[in-house]
Amino acid sequence: MVEARHLPMERGLGKTDRIDDWWKSPLAMAIYLGIAVMYATWRGFMEADFWIFEEFGRSAGNQTMAIESNGSHVLSPLFSPLVVPGQDGLGSWVPESLWWMSPAMFILIIPAGFRGTCYYYRKAYYRSFMVSPAACAVSTPFGDYKGESRLFLFQNLHRYFMYLAVAYLFVLSYDVLLATQFHAAGSATSYGVSVGTLVLMMNVIMLGGYTLGCHSFRHAIGGIRNRFRNGGGAVAEACWKSCTKLNKNHGNWAIYSLFWVMFSDFYIYACTEGWWTDIVLLGGL
Ligand code: FES
Repeated sequence: MVEARHLPMERGLGKTDRIDDWWKSPLAMAIYLGIAVMYATWRGFMEADFWIFEEFGRSAGNQTMAIESNGSHVLSPLFSPLVVPGQDGLGSWVPESLWWMSPAMFILIIPAGFRGTCYYYRKAYYRSFMVSPAACAVSTPFGDYKGESRLFLFQNLHRYFMYLAVAYLFVLSYDVLLATQFHAAGSATSYGVSVGTLVLMMNVIMLGGYTLGCHSFRHAIGGIRNRFRNGGGAVAEACWKSCTKLNKNHGNWAIYSLFWVMFSDFYIYACTEGWWTDIVLLGGL
């Protein structure tokens, strides 16, 4: 049996022999993730028929989920697929007792669950928010690492969230297609591209880079095999190699795709509020 050896280091929050600025990275990550979570929560609640937000969004008759002003339909990724409680489509499945909820609340569980259980984000928030530990060779006040056991067993759900996240890429791609279609009362559909269309397209590319470089996806696509010979092995190997390329920069994809989701939503919010205009670059009505 292997005996655990403890490094001769001082115990206590933030105690370390390191002389570099090790605290900068976890601090920056805490600020970045904190802003992203607060923004998504604020936007998620904005369209709720909820006492605190009654003067905003749907309650005030000015929806901020999609740009509809120039005949196109540019839907925010935070509200896709659109579930408007009590209305047609997916919203008709929502029981009346939940009609106060915002459309975002029904679907944010998928991206939040996927990112929350991602191996990269685990490292980020274990360091930034739980200081467990805050960095390599920096002491933690909470005793030794016990592995992802007990409450942290939920992290094993990551592979299931991964399948949902892959399906979600198709939903978001469909939104890009819808954003190329322009409608006017009494006339046929015409096609075009606005800045909003490009923003949504970029969002799919960024999320694709993040999702398809996921460790679980890489395993499912080819890593599950012991060897790549026979039975579609060449295809599996090519897919696995492509995933590996994305996987090498998974941390960057995680950070930049999160930024772009938030920016896409903010762009749509700003256009629906009249601060910005969604300029049609090509075609349109
Ligand atoms: S490991 Fe990061 S998304 Fe799966």
